Amino acid sequence: MKIAVLKERRFNETRVAASADMVKKLTGMGVDIAIEADAGMAASFPDEDFMAAGAVIAASLEEALDGADIILCVQRPEPDLVDKMPSGAKLIGILSPVSDEASVAQYAAHKIDAFAMDLMPRITRAQSMDVLSSQSNLAGYKAVIDAAAAYGRAMPMMMTSAGTIAPAKVFVMGAGVAGLQAIATARRLGAVVSATDVRFAAKEQVESLGASFVVVDEEAMKEAETEGGYAKEMSDSFKKAQADYVARHIAKQDIVITTALIPGRPAPRLITAEMVAKMREGSIIMDLAAEQGGNVEGTKPNEVVKVGPVTLIGHANLAGRLATDASSFYARNIVNFLALMIDKEKGDLTIDWDDEIIKGVALTRDGAIIHPQFSPAEMAAASTGS
Ligand code: NAI
Repeated sequence: MKIAVLKERRFNETRVAASADMVKKLTGMGVDIAIEADAGMAASFPDEDFMAAGAVIAASLEEALDGADIILCVQRPEPDLVDKMPSGAKLIGILSPVSDEASVAQYAAHKIDAFAMDLMPRITRAQSMDVLSSQSNLAGYKAVIDAAAAYGRAMPMMMTSAGTIAPAKVFVMGAGVAGLQAIATARRLGAVVSATDVRFAAKEQVESLGASFVVVDEEAMKEAETEGGYAKEMSDSFKKAQADYVARHIAKQDIVITTALIPGRPAPRLITAEMVAKMREGSIIMDLAAEQGGNVEGTKPNEVVKVGPVTLIGHANLAGRLATDASSFYARNIVNFLALMIDKEKGDLTIDWDDEIIKGVALTRDGAIIHPQFSPAEMAAASTGS
């Protein structure tokens, strides 16, 4: 069996879907791995390291794809690349089918069996394959590091003979995977940290990291979590109460990190231009949701803009700014997922299509769309609003 690892082609993508460690594990199962030349360069994984681990370096995309049974990528490949994939191959990556439903139809038409790692069910057994968690953890850490680098003051309290510096005040909005890591990182740097979330369950986690938790409406927050652990869209009265609190609170903060997301919807708008204008000169806002529409009015994906007193940072793909660790984590997630489908004795592909994990991520099979969320009937119903 042959696994092909593609070089990423999207703007700003520095990660790669392989690590030397992964290559060793998979070749140990009797699998051949072809990695496109220079695929790991931006992640500081040179071809020599992959070769030493047992991979073959393919000089071209065509050579990598030739005869591939499994194709690994980080981000969704462009349609012209999908056209080049051998029919019947399994494609595994962060395929973001929600943002491009036409891609699902293309996989089916081209008889590619596609698996979207970003749809991984949040069950205990799948934790080691959860790419959103592994990448969000790094993003939360890097958000604080980048915000601290842009901030013209120190983070911890400093008492020196030249005077005393007060610790920075950091406010984290959205205490999921990225938010909790941002809280922990800001605390380690010595900041005074507060945080909020719509899910009441986040309170205990936030407090256990030494930050204070802002409760807007306890009853509404106890109802705000879906079975999968995600946030629901909140009522207008909750949004108003939250906005009133945020307007008062952020005027006293030095750094605000926003990470709020609701699956399948645009990011909730939590900070208005008016609120931004009331912050102190030199304050920093890091909007991790910039690519999904932004939690903050005025942030631009992939840009750093000064708006009134505040520097708004909209870095997209923060995990990619830590390409080495992000790629290692991602590759480990992929190996754990592949272990479900590769017979370790024979090195053959045996997919249990009834497995809860496979069902959660499989988009297409043998030319048909099999994921319920993207089935033609479901999509027609969604587009007519019925
Ligand atoms: P996410 O990336 O979808 O959202 C980030 C955070 O924003 C969430 O905590 C969400 O509640 C919050 N949020 C949404 N709207 C908001 C608003 N208007 N104001 C303030 N905050 C708002 O979520 P993420 O980080 O993927 O994690 C969601 C949950 O899933 C967490 O409880 C996490 O612990 C859990 N989880 C469970 C896993 C498992 O059991 N295998 C794996 C990973 C996460």
